[in-house]
Amino acid sequence: MSDITVDVYLSQDYVAESLRADVLAGLLAMPKTLPPKWFYDARGSELFEQITELPEYYPTRSERRVLADHSPEIAELTQAVSLVELGSGSSEKTRLLLDALRTTGLRQFVPVDVSATALREAAAAIAADYPGLDVHGVVGDFTEHLDRLPVERPRLVAFLGGTIGNLVPSERAKFLSGLRSVLFEGEWLLLGTDLVKDPDVLVRAYDDSAGVTAEFNKNVLSVLNRELDADFDVAAFQHVALWDPEAEWIEMRLRATRAMRVRLAALDLDVRFAQGEEMRTEVSAKFTRPGVTAELAAAGFELARWFTDPDGRFAVSLARATG
Ligand code: SAH
Ligand code: TRP
Repeated sequence: MSDITVDVYLSQDYVAESLRADVLAGLLAMPKTLPPKWFYDARGSELFEQITELPEYYPTRSERRVLADHSPEIAELTQAVSLVELGSGSSEKTRLLLDALRTTGLRQFVPVDVSATALREAAAAIAADYPGLDVHGVVGDFTEHLDRLPVERPRLVAFLGGTIGNLVPSERAKFLSGLRSVLFEGEWLLLGTDLVKDPDVLVRAYDDSAGVTAEFNKNVLSVLNRELDADFDVAAFQHVALWDPEAEWIEMRLRATRAMRVRLAALDLDVRFAQGEEMRTEVSAKFTRPGVTAELAAAGFELARWFTDPDGRFAVSLARATG
């Protein structure tokens, strides 16, 4: 068994405070929104793992194929001694990177996730299977805590799963520049992005026939019921996934199937929903090579390699922090 440390940057107070602030701002906005990071309580992380195995949800399989094919080249090029993984979840696909990087001198693995349960489980499983690896987990928010990560250089920062697509363009620009500012010139980013394709394929990936994605989306209401002493009637909301061709993203919504008033006791707030009213819960942006190249360049990263699966569904970009 290797060494495990887990640093917790998200105190109970901080989580309670930022959940309140996010939910208050989102429910008072027109149209109403809810911020995505609150999907991932223990139940949410478990449901996401089920999503990754759905026949309609191709991104995980496509990205795994890219990593299976190209991890040796990534290890050769980067010579990373530390692998940082943002939004690491179960870190399952990451094992392909770890296997390759172990042969080129990797010493440390730093998974970072807001979901404490997912993080602890993944850190323990990786430590058990990679003897001698220093596993240094961080329960933290990748939009807030990048400046506090441990530094063993050179690092490879992996941000997989297309999670960057869950940020809107202005948030992406801020996130990428923030990441660049904590890296030294010559360190590396490995970025997974789902690609623009046939809208039917995209919509099915976010509205599966078994209803797992619907349950995942609605779980955010259970989080609010529990954490903010709210009384959402979860069964009265319907999952909606649609393709926005201008923004080039899938938009997830929750639609109120009847008029209702919801009480959020912890916020001392009552919110009304009209019948049919839709609240945006998440976007999942889809990318093109020119788009990714430009967003990376604007933040101070130079694209070194562009890898896709053989069907061209999903891309993994290897980029270098420039001076
Ligand atoms: N990388 C994994 C999981 C992707 S799901 C994969 O490719 O399968 C997105 C993950 O990011 C979840 O584990 C979620 O808990 C985490 N996450 C979401 N927002 C986050 C944030 N702001 N900071 C840190 N982790 C976050
Ligand atoms: N990063 C994943 C994606 O955009 C997250 C995700 C998958 C998701 N399915 C979802 C988020 C359904 C909300 C609802 O593909």
